[in-house]
Amino acid sequence: MFEYAPAPESREIVDIKPSYGLFIGGEWVDSQGEDHHKTINPASEEVLAEVAWATEADVDRAVQAARTAFTTWSALPGSERAKYIFRIARIIQERSRELAVLETLDNGKPIRESRDVDLPLVAAHFFYYAGWADKLGYAGFGSDPRPLGVAGQVIPWNFPLLMLAWKIAPALACGNTVVLKPAETTPLTALAFAEICRQADLPPGVVNIVTGAGETGAALVNHPGVDKVAFTGSTEVGRMIARSVAGTRKKLTLELGGKAANIVFEDAALDQAVEGIVNGIFFNQGHVCCAGSRLLVQESVADEVLDALKRRLSTLRLGDPMDKNTDIGAINSAAQLAKIRELSEAGVTEGAERWSPPCPIPDRGFWFPPTVFTGVAQSHRIAREEIFGPVLSVLTFRTPAEAVEKANNTPYGLSAGIWTEKGSRILWMADRLRAGVVWANTFNRFDPTSPFGGFKESGYGREGGRHGLEAYLAV
Ligand code: NAI
Ligand code: MG
Repeated sequence: MFEYAPAPESREIVDIKPSYGLFIGGEWVDSQGEDHHKTINPASEEVLAEVAWATEADVDRAVQAARTAFTTWSALPGSERAKYIFRIARIIQERSRELAVLETLDNGKPIRESRDVDLPLVAAHFFYYAGWADKLGYAGFGSDPRPLGVAGQVIPWNFPLLMLAWKIAPALACGNTVVLKPAETTPLTALAFAEICRQADLPPGVVNIVTGAGETGAALVNHPGVDKVAFTGSTEVGRMIARSVAGTRKKLTLELGGKAANIVFEDAALDQAVEGIVNGIFFNQGHVCCAGSRLLVQESVADEVLDALKRRLSTLRLGDPMDKNTDIGAINSAAQLAKIRELSEAGVTEGAERWSPPCPIPDRGFWFPPTVFTGVAQSHRIAREEIFGPVLSVLTFRTPAEAVEKANNTPYGLSAGIWTEKGSRILWMADRLRAGVVWANTFNRFDPTSPFGGFKESGYGREGGRHGLEAYLAV
């Protein structure tokens, strides 16, 4: 057995302040309330910094700042707005190592992922939408499409900086101004982004960052001065937001949960499929809305695939997210860990068979071993509910029609994966799967040029690509 020496990334590159205020109108300001919250490193439970919890009055101040900035920002020629967004993209690239370390410390994801996946995609998103800013008249939304106004954006903790990029880049390119609320457990990269806005000389008030929990999010979403609401997070909160903006002039996009099927046919390249299954559900500890959390494998190859999968999982390394050899990092919070445990226990109680590789768990922090459930029935909670953790539920099928039926048997519809060597089968399946994204012989591939979004309870509206502009234009 080949031993790995520790290969930790240095945290010296980031300078975390002991406490942070709110970023409003281009300045750091104190919250008008008394509430503060400590953000921790979920891998060690060490306190990283204290952040303000913005009150309704703070949110109001941020929306006013965004409203004031809107007048001049929306009047700038697109080519001028593009210069700022390109500048932001370049600064993100220059500071990407620092931002990757900060993301890993605050979120718990492996440095290999924040460095090689999150940060390159964040920069790519800003570059891509910077390119649209002066070409909106050619995007298919009329010759001179107008921005909506002030966008109130609420994002989750699983891809903190990437979700910020998905929200802010198209909003600014289209001429809107923004008030963004990061998730309570992962505010630090959004606060670093506020610094980047200053470094880029972005006009004050174009981007405002207010930290806080659900109440701050609700104050933002319900503020009458907001013209557009964009939310990524749980279906439950998404529903509440949809109810609260109903009957107002606000435009809404929701990107909610998923329970995606990753479908492996007997003619697939099975070794590649196993890599795709691992990437589908164990990437980012399974904290991925489009994760391939239900493996549908054709019965004739089920034993072979499961044996190979278990062998592969036995080589995954769980531990210090800052170690460059780590595959599985920490679970983002104690609350999320409790949810993963509860659903996994329900899987056992309902009769599925649970398997994990031998896997030492660190003493401190929040951890869950990679877990596979076999003998799963469609009625089991682990086949229906989003676990949002490193837990795979395995079901089998015999015919393509049965695969489609089982894949679509979910209230969600965000993504799906198909593994087969037949192109005609890929097209046949993709036509029938009720999912916003269908990957063929790959999984969890993201690109700023490609639209992303859901069907059914996974939400509505698209982010990314030309389609993503529509959410920020008066069309
Ligand atoms: P959540 O939906 O409560 O949190 C997401 C964001 O919404 C956070 O910024 C939060 O502060 C904010 N928020 C909470 N209540 C709000 C309200 N009433 N009005 C406005 N904003 C509000 O998600 P949570 O509790 O962190 O995770 C629960 C489950 O949701 C997870 O286990 C997972 O299944 C799912 N989830 C899905 C995500 C996705 O990417 N689709 C992301 C995060 C969670
Ligand atoms: Mg944290």
